[in-house]
Amino acid sequence: MDLTLHNNGIDRSPEPAAQKDGRSSAGSSATAVYSTASGESIIQIEHLTKIFREQKRTVTAVNDVTFDVNRGEIFGLLGPNGAGKSTIIRILTTLLKPTSGTACVDTYNISSDPDKIREIIGVCPQNSTLDVELTAYDNLEFYGKLVNVDDDTLDARIWQLLKMADLADRAHMKVQTFSGGMRRKLEIVRAFIHHPLILFLDEPTIGLDPESRREVWQQIAKLNEEKTTIILTTHYMDEAEKLCNRIAFVDKGRLIALDVLENLKRLIPEGDLIEIGFDTFDTIDERVVIAIREKSLINSVEVKQQKLIISAKNGSKVLPEIVTIFENFSLPMTSISIHSPSLEDVFIYLTGRKLDDGNNETAQPLSGRRRGQ
Ligand SMILES: Nc1ncnc2c1ncn2[C@@H]1O[C@H](COP(=O)(O)OP(=O)(O)OP(=O)(O)O)[C@@H](O)[C@H]1O
Ligand SMILES: [Mg+2]
Repeated sequence: MDLTLHNNGIDRSPEPAAQKDGRSSAGSSATAVYSTASGESIIQIEHLTKIFREQKRTVTAVNDVTFDVNRGEIFGLLGPNGAGKSTIIRILTTLLKPTSGTACVDTYNISSDPDKIREIIGVCPQNSTLDVELTAYDNLEFYGKLVNVDDDTLDARIWQLLKMADLADRAHMKVQTFSGGMRRKLEIVRAFIHHPLILFLDEPTIGLDPESRREVWQQIAKLNEEKTTIILTTHYMDEAEKLCNRIAFVDKGRLIALDVLENLKRLIPEGDLIEIGFDTFDTIDERVVIAIREKSLINSVEVKQQKLIISAKNGSKVLPEIVTIFENFSLPMTSISIHSPSLEDVFIYLTGRKLDDGNNETAQPLSGRRRGQ
């Protein structure tokens, strides 16, 4: 996959390149990484900007953002509070007009064809819009009528969705008696009632316990199996890792990175951390260290307390070669571990801050953090 970087001269890319469709990438003043969309795109966003102007304050919620979403993928918008994720979703779902820039959803433009777009999308907003005084069935029926589901098929569709959400046995109970997870699952299937081509889920698991989050993830994966393109926002890294085909990091309104998980992790120059324990009385044969250092993809090799600590660009690829070197020197290994960078590491690397630190606390240096773990 092509990897294009635009990052104030810090070149970590194999080869800087323009996007495949010839468009320039947004955010040229920020550290930004874009993979070219390899599949057929269903959403194209070009230089989207949203500025909120209040009496004394101007907030640039979305700042010159350009990217595509592929048909059929689960696409994650990941970023801290206030990054601009919901604003992007609200623009794409035609609830907000951009200050500048444009976007196309399927074949429709957000400015000229908002009604057409509303017909082909389902939306589950960040804040619940269920009517808790109504039953699960009635919530679905009300929404189904709103989005013009055929009366003849509505009842069957409601039962299908209730079963999908494991809520059939609670169909006629008021939503106010439901747990947070049940409410979220109901709201997600509700957005799916008219078989939308694209489903927007804004923070689908916010505030849920781990068990409910897993259930919602399963539900999202199931919906995606029905060929629905899903765009979700989250500030949970595990959610993005587990669910998303591609992940876009958004920070302070800007798109700062976009790629599949593996490529995002490879942005970190330290790469993977391999630790090999060895069984020898005092020091390791220096020739072992030299032989490992000479291998490609190796960044650094250190010896620390009966352990060789190796930083490598692609840990699983170089590990067999390292094992062979140990064998060649008849040096027995007592342990092997590989630690790959997490998405949090990537975010810290790109921004210098943790993803979930509401107060922009500066993060510890990456190498110190990871080795201390
Ligand atoms: N209607 C509005 N009027 C003024 N400012 C707004 C409005 N909507 C959003 N903002 C501001 O735009 C910025 C981005 O907000 P947005 O809701 O898009 O962030 P987010 O990434 O979804 O955050 P969170 O993870 O907290 O949901 C914030 O500074 C927010 O205060
Ligand atoms: Mg939001």
